[in-house]
Amino acid sequence: MPSIWSAPNPILFGFGAAEQTGAELRRLGCKKALVVFDKGVAAAGISGKIIKIIEDAGIKAVPFGDVQADPPDWSVEAAGALAVSEGADCVVGVGGGSSLDTAKGAKLLIANPPPLKRYYGREGVVTQPSVPLIVIPTTAGTGSECTPGGVITDTERGIKTNIAGVGCSVTLGIVDPELTMGLPPAVTAATGMDALCHCVESLTSARANAISAITGREGIALVARHLARAVRNGDDRAAREGMMKASTLGGISMSGALCHLSHDIGRSLGAKFHVPHGNGCAACLPQVLEVTAPVKTAEVRYFAECFGAQLPPDASAADIGAAARDAARGLMTEISLPTLPKLGLGLGELLDAVPDEVVMQCEMAAKNGIVTSPLPVTRALIADIITRAYNEN
Ligand SMILES: [Fe+2]
Repeated sequence: MPSIWSAPNPILFGFGAAEQTGAELRRLGCKKALVVFDKGVAAAGISGKIIKIIEDAGIKAVPFGDVQADPPDWSVEAAGALAVSEGADCVVGVGGGSSLDTAKGAKLLIANPPPLKRYYGREGVVTQPSVPLIVIPTTAGTGSECTPGGVITDTERGIKTNIAGVGCSVTLGIVDPELTMGLPPAVTAATGMDALCHCVESLTSARANAISAITGREGIALVARHLARAVRNGDDRAAREGMMKASTLGGISMSGALCHLSHDIGRSLGAKFHVPHGNGCAACLPQVLEVTAPVKTAEVRYFAECFGAQLPPDASAADIGAAARDAARGLMTEISLPTLPKLGLGLGELLDAVPDEVVMQCEMAAKNGIVTSPLPVTRALIADIITRAYNEN
């Protein structure tokens, strides 16, 4: 069956890469940059450092430092309006997923008139090309530096939706592991699990392709080697670099293949209960691997073996699924990732809200020709995954 291969934008990768932000903007012919970040990035001193690098290159910086978590449409529109009123000719996003998604939305609105809701929808939405966009992640998780879209909260409908297309595409990703050195263990753990989910879900997606087969596998191996180390010792430079590579490879892997059940559940947990993205996506990963094993046996086996599982050559799909489930659970315990009960959620409220929401989202995507889950998505399947994750993890 034909599959979609997405080739990402260029990535400047390595310790010290952020120092080249100003030079890269000059190379792109930019004179005035909207710099998008949140209060946490400002408090860590990172946005100030990037603004200085930009201004030292002779480029004016217009700060937008009020990024909101799970960026609501009104906040993204405020960033776009500031860019337009200031005459910015480029956008620089600095931070985690929310900052980078806000930056993508601001870029889109420079060349495409508001309101933002005109452009909702994962694919098939035509947007006009806009100004250059440089994204600089400060966490190792989203992979947003190489995905051609962003996640926006539609406040009218109370759901998360997407923007995509040339209007918000990334011109250059600058991926500097140095910027993650100060991340606390809990953020390192949650964002690292997001990266792992991107890698394994795209590898096992119904839309998996030759790129995800390579980048997803390498990303899983990197997470297996580096995530627990980075959580244990945030000053471990090799571990930080390994996780940044995994995050970027996860972004490349999911660009065409996309994610499935863990992210579908995670998005719903975010929209309904404000669970942080990485925590929500990882919450049911062990059980998603287990139910996926019968249809993606070789890929799930690869996952389990990366984390040290010893399986005989003739292991059954059930044994492989159980080994992968236990491997994921072991990692989550090792990095102290909160389980569903520890996130303060009750099983009843989860079952009332999440299965219907996931089925609705998947049905909407299917109407647009997008099917990612390797298994048919039913209310019973999602309820079973959540119940087992609640009781087992
Ligand atoms: Fe994600």
